Amino acid sequence: MEKQEEIQNQKFYMEKIKEMIKNQNQKFSIFTMGCQLNENDSEKLSGMAEKMGYEKTEEQAKSDLVIFNTCCVRENAEDKLFGKLGELKKLKEQNGIIIAIGGCMMQEKHITDKIKESYPFVDIIFGTHTLHRFPEDLYKALSEKKKIEDILDIDGEIYEGLPIKRENNIKASVTIMNGCNNFCSYCIVPYVRGRERSRKPKDILDEIKDLAQKGYKEVTLLGQNVNSYLRVEKEKNIQFEEYEGVNSFATLLIAINKIPGIERIRFVSPHPKDFTDDVIEAISKCDKVCKLIHLPLQSGNTKVLKEMNRKYTKEQYLNLVEKMKNKIPNLTLSTDIIVGFPGETDEEFEDTLDVVEKVKFEQVYMFIYSRRVGTPGDKMENQVPEKIKHIRFDKLKKLVENQIEENNKKYVGTIQKVLVEGESKNNKELLTGRTDSNKVVIFDGEKDLIGNVIELKIVSEHMWYLKGEKICQNFHL
Ligand code: SAH
Ligand code: SF4
Ligand code: F3S
Repeated sequence: MEKQEEIQNQKFYMEKIKEMIKNQNQKFSIFTMGCQLNENDSEKLSGMAEKMGYEKTEEQAKSDLVIFNTCCVRENAEDKLFGKLGELKKLKEQNGIIIAIGGCMMQEKHITDKIKESYPFVDIIFGTHTLHRFPEDLYKALSEKKKIEDILDIDGEIYEGLPIKRENNIKASVTIMNGCNNFCSYCIVPYVRGRERSRKPKDILDEIKDLAQKGYKEVTLLGQNVNSYLRVEKEKNIQFEEYEGVNSFATLLIAINKIPGIERIRFVSPHPKDFTDDVIEAISKCDKVCKLIHLPLQSGNTKVLKEMNRKYTKEQYLNLVEKMKNKIPNLTLSTDIIVGFPGETDEEFEDTLDVVEKVKFEQVYMFIYSRRVGTPGDKMENQVPEKIKHIRFDKLKKLVENQIEENNKKYVGTIQKVLVEGESKNNKELLTGRTDSNKVVIFDGEKDLIGNVIELKIVSEHMWYLKGEKICQNFHL
């Protein structure tokens, strides 16, 4: 009840702002950094802003309200924010715009201190646990003309029923859990997103049924550790209502698979240590679950993995991949890798290359280790010199690009089911879509194919996309 009251309260502020800016044709722009969870949060912020009467614009210079949703997982994100703030100073002086900064970086005290000291023109600072209070914060900033700092260190509740303005009308993201309990030693996320807590099965299923009714075809389930969905609740005996048989990640996949209209289900990120047999079985049985699984490796060396607190060894990871490949027909894998974690030697890095060679990932997201204040990794003494990190990164990149090129060749001549997403950005005459394995396919076709899963023959391959040709229309899965 308390939570519902809070949402009612925010709806009240949304109405008040709407009244306040009536007939003023006010515009907002939003700039999002970071992962899909942040993008989903930005869709909620956009939903609130539109409910308050702001119209979205891509042009910062024409905005009355500029929102930044920040990330702090790597250092370059910080450089980006401070660069942007420099740009905004002028706009603030010229047009008196309202500047609001939220997201993960705002949960770091050294960052908010820096903003208050060096960028005092920022109006609102809000954190990951107070996103739902944005209307109230904005109202106070507008009506009292004072600086607002609304950051909580305790884990925020999960609020349902906030407005949302989605970026896409075919594919949608659905956050199924917040926070992370894993504390990988390089990672800042557990400190800025708080402890793991799952949304109720009914709330998730209702959201996806609603999406299906609105014509969405693909959902991506989001969380920092999706395959431990509801685990904490069970461990701590926190009551949750089972709904349509959902009491785990595997049963959630099974329930979503039954929703008519939804044709594809994806999820990011699962953790290898929680990849239980029931999840593998659910993936193989559920026809709508895409067979591209993101399985973050981080490092291929057992000692480095231990230092990273990943809780699996090189062999356990490779065995899991073997098991999954045996049980899930047409499985493809993508992964995340960090190079240059403290103490990583050239020899240990070779293990990462070895795993990449063995697994042959469909896609590899590669990162250079970045020290994050407050994490155990930052305190480790044996930091790898930048130059060596870059040499390793380039070596890995070369291997990955060669593999992708080889892998792309395998697509040529095959028939792929493609969800048609819209016009190609580079050539409006052509359409673009994605295979089950998330490869972009460009082809020539009628616009009414958009939103359908069709069969295409792949005729040629390029580094980042494939070219396809129609063979029959409106083929549904
Ligand atoms: N929860 C997810 C993803 C978290 S962040 C998971 O466990 O896979 C996304 C990716 O950023 C991570 O998988 C990791 O590869 C990378 N990353 C996180 N912290 C980093 C750091 N300090 N330096 C470099 N890369 C990092
Ligand atoms: Fe970070 Fe590890 Fe949690 Fe992923 S699982 S968010 S890498 S601490
Ligand atoms: Fe970045 Fe926060 Fe996501 S730190 S990666 S936006 S959870």
